[in-house]
Amino acid sequence: MQENPLPHQKIVFVCCNQREEGAVRTCCANQNGVLIHQELKEMVKARGYRTKIRVSKSGCMDRCEAGANVMIFPDNVWLSDVMVEDLEALVDRLVAEVDGSESTTADE
Ligand code: FES
Repeated sequence: MQENPLPHQKIVFVCCNQREEGAVRTCCANQNGVLIHQELKEMVKARGYRTKIRVSKSGCMDRCEAGANVMIFPDNVWLSDVMVEDLEALVDRLVAEVDGSESTTADE
């Protein structure tokens, strides 16, 4: 095993877990998790931040009823009840944080 620094400035995990039809619990896929992942990934790419902000799928994080769930690392931020309408503001925030950390680094 090797320990390495994060290869991206941010890694955003979007739960895309799909439960089987008739399952007792709901799932993020039933709350637009897959669409949110696709849209977020495209929006980050369109802004030119694909190498700095990685958008990945995750499996179930056991907060299914609060979906769609999104985790942001290394920030340790957990977003729940994420909707497609939230994504523009989320991308704005991610980009601003990445740009802010770069200017902070450049000034040091
Ligand atoms: S299905 Fe997304 S947290 Fe369980």
